[in-house]
Amino acid sequence: GTPQTRTPTGVKTGVPSTAKGQQGAFLTTANGARLRDTDHSLKAGPRGPVLLQDHHFREKIMHFDHERIPERVVHARGAGAHGIFTAYGTAENVTQAGFLKKGRETEVFVRFSTVLGSRGSADTVRDTRGFATKFYTDEGTFDLVGNNMPVFFIQDAIKFPDIIHAAKPHPDREIPQAQSAHDTFWDFVSLHTEAQHHTIWNMSDRGIPRSYRTMEGFGVHTFRLINAAGETVLAKFHWKPKLGVHSLVWEEAQTINGIDPDFHRRDLYDAIESGAFPEWELGIQIFPDTPEETFAGIDLLDPTKIVPEELAPVQPVGKLTLNRTPTNFFAETEQVAFHLGHLPPGIDVTNDPLLQGRLFSYLDTQLTRLAGPNFPQIPINRPHAPVNDMLRDGFHQQAIHAGVAPYRPNSLDGGNPFPAGDDDHPFIDVPVQVAQAPKVRASPASFDDHFSQTRLFWLSMSPVEQEHIIRAYTFELGKCYHQAIKERQLQCLANIDPVLCAQVAAGLGLPAPQPTAPLADVAPSPALSQVGREWPAD
Ligand code: HEM
Repeated sequence: GTPQTRTPTGVKTGVPSTAKGQQGAFLTTANGARLRDTDHSLKAGPRGPVLLQDHHFREKIMHFDHERIPERVVHARGAGAHGIFTAYGTAENVTQAGFLKKGRETEVFVRFSTVLGSRGSADTVRDTRGFATKFYTDEGTFDLVGNNMPVFFIQDAIKFPDIIHAAKPHPDREIPQAQSAHDTFWDFVSLHTEAQHHTIWNMSDRGIPRSYRTMEGFGVHTFRLINAAGETVLAKFHWKPKLGVHSLVWEEAQTINGIDPDFHRRDLYDAIESGAFPEWELGIQIFPDTPEETFAGIDLLDPTKIVPEELAPVQPVGKLTLNRTPTNFFAETEQVAFHLGHLPPGIDVTNDPLLQGRLFSYLDTQLTRLAGPNFPQIPINRPHAPVNDMLRDGFHQQAIHAGVAPYRPNSLDGGNPFPAGDDDHPFIDVPVQVAQAPKVRASPASFDDHFSQTRLFWLSMSPVEQEHIIRAYTFELGKCYHQAIKERQLQCLANIDPVLCAQVAAGLGLPAPQPTAPLADVAPSPALSQVGREWPAD
């Protein structure tokens, strides 16, 4: 790629003039009045006091006092970049989404993040990483809000506050920043054993990526795709890094935390600015849309389960290239607002109960984080498709809406805003059956299997990866104060694998328990191992 150009003062060239915060040759107030002095307040004589009438002083301090906005409740620490997505056309038979048609280029913004640390925390901690992509398609924005691990801790969004409370710092001491080194985390994941699969991913090398550029990304949930004929399939999204999947080893991660807490952020920015543009291929696993919503016996609505690539290969559908760093971290990386409900025609949600809860949570949190309902008008969040909505007024309204009151149909304004579909843009309703069933607070029986895929992951690791996993469990559990919690987690490990359990127990100086149920008879998935990965093929 071509390195970006910056002026000697570091100002990036090529920023559209409408997005520039500064104009003109002189220093001014916010109202454009030219200033003679910004270093001295107006005083009654050189020794003061300072006069209340000094508007520039009050404006300058008032604005500074309000520079901070709340950090994200999770994924507070992140780094972003702009790029281009180019479609191969290989998904055209399964989705009508225009941005996946052959040769289409779509602008994107990606934000990578850790989950648990606060905004100023270190990059190379053991944690899940966020991988959120905003595709500015000409049919409306598509947000793919994924992680670098294909499974999640919980099966129902109603538990999300609980897992995050358990994993964030203790309420009394506000430590630790690192997610897994404390009692409440291990208490939660050993009591809610659905979390064991995600936890073994965190204890593996995937929990300490070498670089954002060497991470896979996963949409986690199953989505429903609709083609132009109205036919549907179920699908999972995958990002595959062109550089391959690489991790740090624990000792490196520890050292880097001290030497350069901004390691991943710096790596991403330096790579792009030097022209080494990071690339990923987007791929999809496709499953028939059957009433059971299962594939090879795996419940596709359970976000703690994967479908091994050996059973459903990941089919490449396009390429992402990150080629531009943000001009302003706050305006872009901090103010970006992703949402799983931002879907173009051709991609739809499923009934995964974790996904369904996320559909409420992001909009709700952004209402506070970005102060009011008009954050879609912030430049980084503006769609690149025309907007003709019926939303009006509210804090920070930027648009000057014309015409009469927005309702439709109306007889006063030519029917504007216009109807949603026309012959060129038909709306295809997805014919999904809703079960005739009583209201219940319960999960399907298939959600009860918490250990077979956890064992599958363990068995798929190479010996060196298994060794790293043993050391990670031993280190993190070793930080717990409560022996009962260590013992309960060892019981979980016994239900995953006797070698894993025995080694960690030995490291902790505790006896290794016996499994409480027969171990699952599962075939390893070589594609899960980082060793010897050869994808994408070229
Ligand atoms: C933020 C991924 C589950 C609530 C994020 C971000 C990512 C992410 C990548 C950061 C977005 C950014 O960079 O701005 C995921 C994945 C999940 C998951 C892959 C499971 C598959 C949940 C659930 C909830 C939730 C179940 C709540 C019920 C939030 C909230 C934010 C967030 C409130 C902050 C959003 C903001 O302030 O803009 N999530 N998440 N997440 N997530 Fe999730």
